[in-house]
Amino acid sequence: MQTLANKKILLGITGGIAAYKAAELLRLLIKAGAEVRVVMTPSAQEFVQPLTYQALSGHRVYIDLFDAEAESAMDHIELARWCDLLLVAPASANFLGKLNAGYADNLLLTLCLASKQPVAVAPAMNQQMFANAATEDNINQLKARRVLVWGPAEGEQACGDVGPGRMLEPEQLVNNVAQYFIPGKLDGVELLLTAGPTREAIDPVRYISNRSSGKMGYALAEAALKEGASVTLVSGPVALPAPQGVQLVAVESAQQMYDAVMQQASTSDIFIACAAVADYRVDQAADHKLKKSTDSMSLQLVRNVDILAAVSALERRPFCVGFAAETRQLEKYALGKLEQKNLDMIAANQVGDSNSGFEVDSNQLEVFWPGGRQSIEHATKTDIAKQLIDLIIERYTCARR
Ligand code: CTP
Repeated sequence: MQTLANKKILLGITGGIAAYKAAELLRLLIKAGAEVRVVMTPSAQEFVQPLTYQALSGHRVYIDLFDAEAESAMDHIELARWCDLLLVAPASANFLGKLNAGYADNLLLTLCLASKQPVAVAPAMNQQMFANAATEDNINQLKARRVLVWGPAEGEQACGDVGPGRMLEPEQLVNNVAQYFIPGKLDGVELLLTAGPTREAIDPVRYISNRSSGKMGYALAEAALKEGASVTLVSGPVALPAPQGVQLVAVESAQQMYDAVMQQASTSDIFIACAAVADYRVDQAADHKLKKSTDSMSLQLVRNVDILAAVSALERRPFCVGFAAETRQLEKYALGKLEQKNLDMIAANQVGDSNSGFEVDSNQLEVFWPGGRQSIEHATKTDIAKQLIDLIIERYTCARR
């Protein structure tokens, strides 16, 4: 059984048939030791009477924004400050739209706006409503603002449809709440990460790039988030969704990546340079599409700035981790880069074979730091990322002592 002792949860209930499941959710949260106060939207009352939640929680249920009696017990700003987590379950499509737009026309929305505490939502709606582009946009934007989106689940719906849109089961939601409160080893740590390739323009329609898929960098972002880090991911063009909770800065060229990184580097605690940054760019990219007028042509390339070296040279520098992708003499080149770029750690991988490195789901690493090394055996990029983040935590903690 999960323990939520001393945790204060504000449970928001919106208008949807899954409101009946919120009663079980409330019961389980209390059973796990949480202190829970319930806020209902006016339309939630169309589905379940407030008395149900009042009886289960042992406290009055908050509904009206302008309720003098309720305000005298705990006003809405105090209520917003009181909780450790604001969990809205079920969260209707209407509520998610209003939350995204910053509306405050009922008590629950007002509390979400007024609270500095994290907000988690458990969407529950008809599958067609969930699939609607407006709902999708709302959810994506809420995720980008670090609202935790739990679910929905797939299955048979109250209306008879089958598909994604069901609220996660109460047991699963309690589990998510408990997981959320497990302290991470990187709680309070600002982690900056680059990932993916860069694109160096030749003309408005052509570019020079490389085979990096961004998978390793995105897996690292995910692993760091799980440990509680606040993650900024500066990413070149990739075909991957941003991990939930990450601050994504999308860039194209090495210069744009450099600018984005330098804005945050000196306030970051850890910097991981996982991007495959183009070493060269075209000296003068053409303003218009180049025409094939000659039998051959050549491009004048000039060196791009080394982002990792620039970060590591900062006066107030984060703990710097580099990557080295090598086709031969892995150790020699990796150690050379560790020293030349003055890094705290470098993760080297062999590229050019078929089951590790670029464009594949698995990898293996040889990690070096001044005075030490460790192998991370061949595994999925998700597993490798977890092990590398553990190693970074170990070295970062040593470096700070
Ligand atoms: N890197 C960077 N900025 C660049 C080039 C590389 O931040 N302009 C980072 C990469 O993200 C990676 C490490 O530096 O962490 C790679 O080191 P580097 O020596 O540049 O590797 P290669 O580009 O592969 O160099 P070489 O071609 O000389 O092997």
